[in-house]
Amino acid sequence: MSKAEKEKKLKSKSEEKIKKNKDKSKKSKEKQEEINVVSLDQTVVSLGNPRSQTDVKHLFQPRFSEKPINVAIVGATGAVGRELIEAFQQNQLYINELKLYASERSAGETIEYKGKELMVEDLSMGSWKTSKIDVAFFSAGGPVSLEYVPQFVEHGILVIDNTSAFRMKADVPLVVPEVNIDDIQKHKGIIANPNCSTIEAMPILHTLEKCYGLKRVVYSTYQSASGAGKSGMDELHDQTVALLNFKTPIVKKFPKRLAFDLIPKIGSFLEDGNTQEEEKMIKESQKILGLADLPISATCVRVPTFIGHCLSVNVELNRDFDLDELIENLKKTQNVQVFTGDEYPTLMDVSGLDVICVGRIRRDQSVPFGVNLWIVADNLRKGAATNAWQIAQAIYGTPKLNTQDLSD
Ligand code: A2P
Repeated sequence: MSKAEKEKKLKSKSEEKIKKNKDKSKKSKEKQEEINVVSLDQTVVSLGNPRSQTDVKHLFQPRFSEKPINVAIVGATGAVGRELIEAFQQNQLYINELKLYASERSAGETIEYKGKELMVEDLSMGSWKTSKIDVAFFSAGGPVSLEYVPQFVEHGILVIDNTSAFRMKADVPLVVPEVNIDDIQKHKGIIANPNCSTIEAMPILHTLEKCYGLKRVVYSTYQSASGAGKSGMDELHDQTVALLNFKTPIVKKFPKRLAFDLIPKIGSFLEDGNTQEEEKMIKESQKILGLADLPISATCVRVPTFIGHCLSVNVELNRDFDLDELIENLKKTQNVQVFTGDEYPTLMDVSGLDVICVGRIRRDQSVPFGVNLWIVADNLRKGAATNAWQIAQAIYGTPKLNTQDLSD
């Protein structure tokens, strides 16, 4: 077969795939409309948020951008990608064109964005090279970032990377905007979005460091299935349904059955006995806080919930503190909502929100200057997508609503 014939065959195969996926997304939309039964994960996601956020100090005074930007999402069909699309529907950035990329599996599928159907493209086909993209959000897993992020940077595109591929590199800023937004100035094309559980703790620990000095931190985490992506949520859903129907659950994504159980292993085990996730929490916290020698210990546990991560955090401070004053200081922290007295946050308080909640704030009597905290946030929002678009907002500003035509 000649080269031209081979190329023709390849092109028609890829067109066939795109057509198949387009039909698939049409059918799945029709099917969804037909289904009246609420599935487990839909129940969890939609249950709520009864709380108002009026007492939360928000991050930025609006700085309006004059010029719309072209934005790409790599991993647009995934759990975090979908949250980014949702945020852009709500005009968190002033976008001219939004390009969506995923694997060959999803090429041709469409996703609704501001009343239009945007087509998902196969990243490997390379159309991004000619799309004049200003900034790309990567959330398609470490291997994809390792392969494509350097290529995007070479094409002059700023990458905000949600994977761990570049987080610990010295020349890559690792940013939680409430803590170290100034670090973005040092970027050389890549800005890393930290690990989801780490992000949740940072604004609070930053405040405690500023006010009292941090001596030691012990994290215990309770992390939902969505931390492992959409397939993690699907597995928990399927296992739960199987068990409730007296069937054998299938274990694929997680190391053991997650439904109705807890798994104290996120990522592989390392030589020192920690898991990769625990090491990420330790090293990334030290980098973001700028405290390379801060003693930190972490135990990370996967729990059978769909969205939201909870953290029990034990902190030893360098100086004594008045508990009421400490609570007042936490209340002044940007994007943090403080629960006091008998009130405490749970996942339902943060589902679908960009805020970090903290409660159960009490003295740890076992050490001289100890405090215990219970921190909760939506891992797909503040733990991933929100943190990423906040970084982009700090660079590009926000749209001036009502004065620009933002409907397309
Ligand atoms: P796809 O849906 O085509 O597999 P999650 O974190 O929820 O598991 O989502 C992962 C995201 O990364 C999905 O959008 C997935 O696309 C995308 N992805 C996975 N592998 C690749 C790849 N090789 N190239 C581009 N996107 C990929």
